[in-house]
Amino acid sequence: MPEKKPIKITETILRDAHQSLIATRMPTELMLPIVDKMDQVGYHSVECWGGATFDASLRFLKEDPWDRLRKLKNGFKKTKLQMLLRGQNILGYRHYADDVVEYFVQKSIANGIDIIRIFDCLNDLRNLEASVKACNKEGGHAQIALSYTLGDAYTLDYWMNIAKDIENMGADSICIKDMAGLLVPYQASELISAMKSATKLPIQLHTHYTSGVASMTYLKAVEAGVDVIDCAMSPFALGTSQPATEVMAETFRGTPYDPGFDQNLLAEIADHFRPYREECLKSGLLDPKVLGVNIKTLMYQVPGGMLSNMVSQLKEQNASDKYDAVLQEIPQVRKDFGEPPLVTPSSQIVGTQAVFNVLMGERYKMATGETKDLLSGKYGRTVKPFNPEVQKKVIGDKEVITCRPADLIPNELEKIESEMKQWKQQDEDVLSYALFPQVATDYFKYRQAQQEKVDMTQADTKNGAYPV
Ligand code: CO
Repeated sequence: MPEKKPIKITETILRDAHQSLIATRMPTELMLPIVDKMDQVGYHSVECWGGATFDASLRFLKEDPWDRLRKLKNGFKKTKLQMLLRGQNILGYRHYADDVVEYFVQKSIANGIDIIRIFDCLNDLRNLEASVKACNKEGGHAQIALSYTLGDAYTLDYWMNIAKDIENMGADSICIKDMAGLLVPYQASELISAMKSATKLPIQLHTHYTSGVASMTYLKAVEAGVDVIDCAMSPFALGTSQPATEVMAETFRGTPYDPGFDQNLLAEIADHFRPYREECLKSGLLDPKVLGVNIKTLMYQVPGGMLSNMVSQLKEQNASDKYDAVLQEIPQVRKDFGEPPLVTPSSQIVGTQAVFNVLMGERYKMATGETKDLLSGKYGRTVKPFNPEVQKKVIGDKEVITCRPADLIPNELEKIESEMKQWKQQDEDVLSYALFPQVATDYFKYRQAQQEKVDMTQADTKNGAYPV
């Protein structure tokens, strides 16, 4: 047995777990009553912000995401809070200027975030420079997450070299982000050992249970020296979410990797979330389908979310019979696009283009705007070059960007602020608007209406009449 090395655990129930299982709909009021107990567990961190939570809060829950963060920070006295950030995309879907990225990072840390996990869909580290630098400057922990994928280019040397580059960039740790559950146990062992030999930075492993191998993958990764694993409390674990916290804690009990968690305390926390799980099952928000094993993700190497997107796109076009043809088209498109990992937004770009190619009966007869942008270099550099013939067919002789895409975007914070200043009640509102202009404006209107309602009631009780 090796010497004592307790495995550290990041709890994801407040972010990825409900994003993966119930479309990110867990409201803040459900989280707050249990925060005190969660704070006693001894987690390495609690992932509770970023990813899709920002959009979902504003759009569906009519909540201010910044307010959620401040309330969580207020409750978690000792546990570090973690968020997920899409590099130069921040939490939105386009590349932002550096001044917006810097301001967002600054405000995230000022409102309570300790660890920022930053990733790019192409693993183009240039797209992470601005956020890592800003995070360093604000005294946060900058973690670079590599989108894990398979393919000719992704050799052990690739992962070892990029780990060294990350260390040189000034990041504090590395995460292997396996969004599709493609990393199988023995390969995890190999990958972690190789990366550990290449860098001194702590390595965290993030995977999803989608393909059914995740907890075995964690076991082998821990034995190979991984430092932190991402788990979710059992009521929102497994399926397209993470392995269960209680199960992993019990797996390592009495071993050198024992995280030392109190199983009774974990049980109390699970009891808090279980009725909500039942409620979600009853309302249909939690579909039992996502709780099973989806072996197709291993066969086709595409994330579960991408498969379900494709199914609905084909249904809309009355072309459900083309499902297999599209599945076979995906690896071809991915190759033409320089073999990118499949994660937001590259997964949507590749998936939609594959659907187009099949429906049109000719490859790239029609290209989406995103395909054009990708092949023009606007998303950054892929691990392999684009297929030059495809590139020519799609963008013609248009100039191709080879620099860091954000170098071409002038600062835009001032302009954004001037567009929305009538709604601004706090500095952070500018950022909500920058990321989701329409959704944020709708939320600001809703917020104002709520405030006017309160004012009216107060005036009513004071004066006995509505103000005229
Ligand atoms: Co995830």
